[in-house]
Amino acid sequence: MRKEIEEQTDSLGWVLGTLVDPGAGALKPILDAVDFAQADRIVLLACGTAHYACHLASYRIEEFARIPVEIDLASEYRYRDRPLSGREIVIAVSQSGETADTFSALTALGSKAAARLAIVNVPTSSIAREADAILDIQAGPEIGVASTKAFTGQLMALLGIALKAGRDRGALDTASVARAVEELASVPRIVGATLRMAPEIAATAKTLAAASDIYFLGRGVNYPLALEAALKMKEISYIHAEAYAAGELKHGPIALIESGTPVVVFDGPDGLAEKTDSNVAEIAARGAAVVRIGPGEQCDLRIPEAAPLAAPFAYAVVAQLLAYFAAVEKGTDVDQPRNLAKSVTVE
Ligand code: F6R
Repeated sequence: MRKEIEEQTDSLGWVLGTLVDPGAGALKPILDAVDFAQADRIVLLACGTAHYACHLASYRIEEFARIPVEIDLASEYRYRDRPLSGREIVIAVSQSGETADTFSALTALGSKAAARLAIVNVPTSSIAREADAILDIQAGPEIGVASTKAFTGQLMALLGIALKAGRDRGALDTASVARAVEELASVPRIVGATLRMAPEIAATAKTLAAASDIYFLGRGVNYPLALEAALKMKEISYIHAEAYAAGELKHGPIALIESGTPVVVFDGPDGLAEKTDSNVAEIAARGAAVVRIGPGEQCDLRIPEAAPLAAPFAYAVVAQLLAYFAAVEKGTDVDQPRNLAKSVTVE
């Protein structure tokens, strides 16, 4: 898993190369057969970590393409009697391309949607073959059960789709695309710089490893990152971890905070930082052991300053390394955690 976390600078470089031309400041032609202009909705379907990549990307697709985005767990979507207009573009996201729930949700849609796309890491997989068109994240084989480089690859591919949809729909002008391309082109550098923080992240993880419960908080795009961080933590370290949208704290979860409760806060993002500040004050006043992560001076773990589109990749790497080092500290099997399979081919 450690190796796969480190491989992300390369794997992201690959997928970036298929999506954008930083020299020209432009998105390359992708998914040419699919026109987002006529779509009335984008539906993102996936499970687990891939679902969190969809959740995060949904903010950017709505922002760039001005189109409603629905995200659902494939295991729920396949049993919902969902009214369809026939103008939906459905995107299934799966590292393995073999996840039974995601495959069945895609199959059940048949010809009811305008197009069914897939973002996969295995272009010969069942989901890839079922879809009308695919984007291959080219992350290379993921051996560890917990998804790491596939998550960031999926995110990058979805951001490429957000730009394509924005362009198809006339919602993004050339200058905005060029700005976004420049931000995406900085991702391998930002990821590299975050990987170099491994010793500090390991020290923080060591303090978290003794906890029986850890809470993760984030707002906006940092909320799905908090969800992903909690999933990774429980999956490989077996520490009970939950994530909440920071604004939801006072609607219940704050009752769990007592003296010494570890709470990892993903600071920001831009525009929401003040709101996060007040959440931190609320939990600190109740004695929580707050670990604040972000680029600002107030943070305990200072990640590199990054443009809005690149910042989530830094948080993702921190989330992966925190879980990894907590698991190492606890002596669990990081690559083969108990009760889990790499490919979930049954319901
Ligand atoms: C978590 C993890 C799982 C997978 C999920 C979907 O680290 O790896 O949650 O993301 O089982 O798998 P794929 O992407 O193969 O459909």
